[in-house]
Amino acid sequence: MRANLVMILMSFLRVAESFTSSWSRFSVPACRVALYSSSPSPSPSATTTMEVTATEKPKWAAGGVVSDLVNILIGIKPLFSLMKLGARQQLISTAEQNGVPWRERAIALEQKQEILDQYYNTCLVESIEYPQYYTREFHAYDEGNLNWPAAYECEQATMSMALRVWPTETLTPKEAQDRLRYSFTDSVKGYINEIALTSGEQASIKKRTSSMLPSSSSSSSSSTPSSMNFLREKGLQSKSERNVDEQSFNSGGSVDSIVDLGCSVGVSTFYLSEAFPSASVLGVDLSPQFLAVAQERQWSFPVASPVSKNIMFVHGQAEKMDSFIASGSQDLVAACFMFHELPQQASRDILKEMFRITSTSGFGTIAITDNNPGSTVIQRLPAPIFTLMKSTEPWSDEYYAFDLEQAMRQVGFVDVVTIETDPRHRTVLGRRPAM
Ligand SMILES: C[S@@+](CC[C@H](N)C(=O)[O-])C[C@H]1O[C@@H](n2cnc3c(N)ncnc32)[C@H](O)[C@@H]1O
Repeated sequence: MRANLVMILMSFLRVAESFTSSWSRFSVPACRVALYSSSPSPSPSATTTMEVTATEKPKWAAGGVVSDLVNILIGIKPLFSLMKLGARQQLISTAEQNGVPWRERAIALEQKQEILDQYYNTCLVESIEYPQYYTREFHAYDEGNLNWPAAYECEQATMSMALRVWPTETLTPKEAQDRLRYSFTDSVKGYINEIALTSGEQASIKKRTSSMLPSSSSSSSSSTPSSMNFLREKGLQSKSERNVDEQSFNSGGSVDSIVDLGCSVGVSTFYLSEAFPSASVLGVDLSPQFLAVAQERQWSFPVASPVSKNIMFVHGQAEKMDSFIASGSQDLVAACFMFHELPQQASRDILKEMFRITSTSGFGTIAITDNNPGSTVIQRLPAPIFTLMKSTEPWSDEYYAFDLEQAMRQVGFVDVVTIETDPRHRTVLGRRPAM
């Protein structure tokens, strides 16, 4: 009966979607609008200012008939509960059909609760005041990211996310995860190498390494690192000035310090550490439960590896890191799949803080990877999928309407480049100019 009700609603949405799709060619110019937050029960007091970049955003997000309709449905509490349940069941069954050991891994972690409690107690910073946007219901968990069941399932959720990127291929969860993560770390390495090579004017090496950049660079390619010959004039230190040998730089060796914001249970942190094996990597997250699982993964087989010793996890808020990260101290500041969980104001505050901690050598790099609002796959998500997604991601309207590249430039990053690192995701890179 419940399932039928959800199916009827989904069909209704499909009809509404096809009806409105014929309007989509009349795009609205980018604008700033005041609107209700995507709260399931909007109230006038929840009014917030949201930037809307209408040219790129999918039609199911941030304004428009389909988006508003979905938000109204999500705003009906009993219906919202049904959607949550549907989303969760769908996620787990699809994951397990594709080889993700969802429940098995969750049970294994639950059985390690004693050791997880120890990790939790060591990392917990009791003085942290969680921002309101963070304590909302997330991913079908009433307590959002601040609970154990969510922590038990994070790793499996990232495997499912990776598998969804290549639905027509037969990949194991590990193969899909590797492909998604290496496309990110390769684009970061390519960007950093290009900055160094361009500043050092070593044309022959440049020719060789520029092939590292994924060929699918987006329309912003006019500002790709290859066209950054002017960096030196802007005062960038050359590679030789930094006393870094060529081979180590090409393997990412000159990156000594990395911060991974919104590190969750450490999946992105481990891939970053693997890509830059001589760097110290600091994973920062607001969820002490997630950080406890991250540490369990760090020190237990099969995840623990030689890179484990270079990693530290810290309980902290990405907007406020002055008590534990010095200004200008980090060669690479990364955020993987965090920004879609943020309202726009938090995104702006975090970008400012990312700028503060990024190295002032001229090589200090910021790398943000997340859902790509401009990707055809995201633009054309079927109605049931985007409805389920919106019902479990409270800030998705704000994310899809946010001009990330522009916001990065506004806080001071330069040479901002967007690379479509896979069919669903983009990596946006930039660097802090030399001081
Ligand atoms: C989808 S998870 C990221 C997963 C991980 N980086 C990866 O690539 O697999 C987003 C994470 O951001 C964290 N987060 C959200 N807002 C945050 C904030 N303001 N400060 C620190 N962490 C935050 C959440 O707790 C969550 O663990």
